[in-house]
Amino acid sequence: MPADVILGAQWGDEGKGKIVDVLAEKYDVIIRYQGGSNAGHTVIDGDKKYILHLLPSGIINSGKMNIISHGVVIDLNALAAEIKELKSKGVKVTPQNLMISSNAAVVLPYHKAIDAARESGNAPNKIGTTGRGIGPAYMDKYSRGGVRIRDLFNAEVLRKKITDNLAEKNFLLEKFYGKEKLRRGAILKELQKHARFIKPFVKDTVDEINKYVKNGKKILFEGAQGALLDIDFGTFPFVTSSNPTIGGVMTGSGISHSRIKGVWGITKAYQTRVGNGPMPTEMKEPEHSRTREAGGEYGATTGRPRRCGWLDLVALKYVCELNGITNIILTKIDVLSIFGRIKAATHYIYKGKKISTFVADGNELLKCRPVYKVLKGWGSDVSSARTYTALPKEARDYIRFIEKYTGVKVSVVSVGPDREQILKKP
Ligand code: GDP
Ligand code: IMO
Ligand code: MG
Repeated sequence: MPADVILGAQWGDEGKGKIVDVLAEKYDVIIRYQGGSNAGHTVIDGDKKYILHLLPSGIINSGKMNIISHGVVIDLNALAAEIKELKSKGVKVTPQNLMISSNAAVVLPYHKAIDAARESGNAPNKIGTTGRGIGPAYMDKYSRGGVRIRDLFNAEVLRKKITDNLAEKNFLLEKFYGKEKLRRGAILKELQKHARFIKPFVKDTVDEINKYVKNGKKILFEGAQGALLDIDFGTFPFVTSSNPTIGGVMTGSGISHSRIKGVWGITKAYQTRVGNGPMPTEMKEPEHSRTREAGGEYGATTGRPRRCGWLDLVALKYVCELNGITNIILTKIDVLSIFGRIKAATHYIYKGKKISTFVADGNELLKCRPVYKVLKGWGSDVSSARTYTALPKEARDYIRFIEKYTGVKVSVVSVGPDREQILKKP
């Protein structure tokens, strides 16, 4: 059974990019299966830093095939810019190491304009999106009128879809949101340019992925966002518009569940969130600012400061059970070295009762107050540790506490952003 999954177990930014970059050499193919350029996956390689939005993180170092499958929504401007930037840094991006699904949905300028309009001014229910047009693009996919990559190669179909869609979107933009109309000619011209550029990469990736499966090749799925941002299982409405949870792997790539072996849940040793919505364990000052600075907690896509909190074990256990997480990858434990005491939420107080089950609704979770277990910190730098036993006892106690609470083994611990700052736990 050849496939493993790296799945964000929090609200995104758990360190997926770093881990996929390190693991990718052990696999034959790395696949992004949901989300879009709302993702920002950081890979640090020596003095070089890369931030990937659409391309799988295997593209940097592995020399293996990378696939953007049909579950991803693709902004062709963002993709072209990302490829250009990587090439300028000496990274090879060719049809020998990248495939793009012909059935992926395309993010268009009107999706971004609507995303921005819905989030601007006094608009109600603002999510704090990344502004990358993700929600409106998935809406068009599910309403069945959206443009797919394959449409770029059929001028008649493309013209008709853009014409029909734009009539509706311009009505909305102009009459409802009071914004500028977009011009069809400019959109079509840009799409034609992108069509020429991406054509060599475009494949039936369901077929290609299943060929890898049949040939016994090893597949690594790179999740984007995190389980708590899942449209169905997250803190709705403060979520993204895709399924970062395990089902998204199957629907977004075309692999069977029976091929999946490892489901690696990746979590920070604390918690962050960008954008709006509840986070029961959000820290107070001065812990909050100290964590943000020690962890460099600023969004990789938007540069927004991330909200920081203590580890929420109630949420983590929910994510582990929901996704059948087989192993935990724990990142950024080095950041907690600044604290003499470490807290982790084991329960919530909700409607006057002490509960240990997650509340998967944004507005209800807002009402939950955390109950903490306080553990002794280690107070010393762990970023140079390369073996598990080199970690201070208090750090190992904290990890054991996480394992005991979730019932899932922590198998990998990351102690810094660099490739070599990683250790296997026996
Ligand atoms: P992703 O979206 O899950 O790929 O995560 P991001 O790249 O958005 O955010 C993770 C940030 O933490 C990046 O700046 C990484 O370079 C950094 N990082 C990853 N692992 C570690 C770690 O173990 N320790 C520290 N201090 N930083 C890390
Ligand atoms: P990676 O893959 C963290 C958040 C946004 C917002 C909500 C909806 O780097 O972990 P969207 O633009 O998707 O409509 O925004 O989801 N969000 C992320 N937060 N990491 C991400 O991706 C995110 N992608 C979206 O901040 O709260
Ligand atoms: Mg990120």
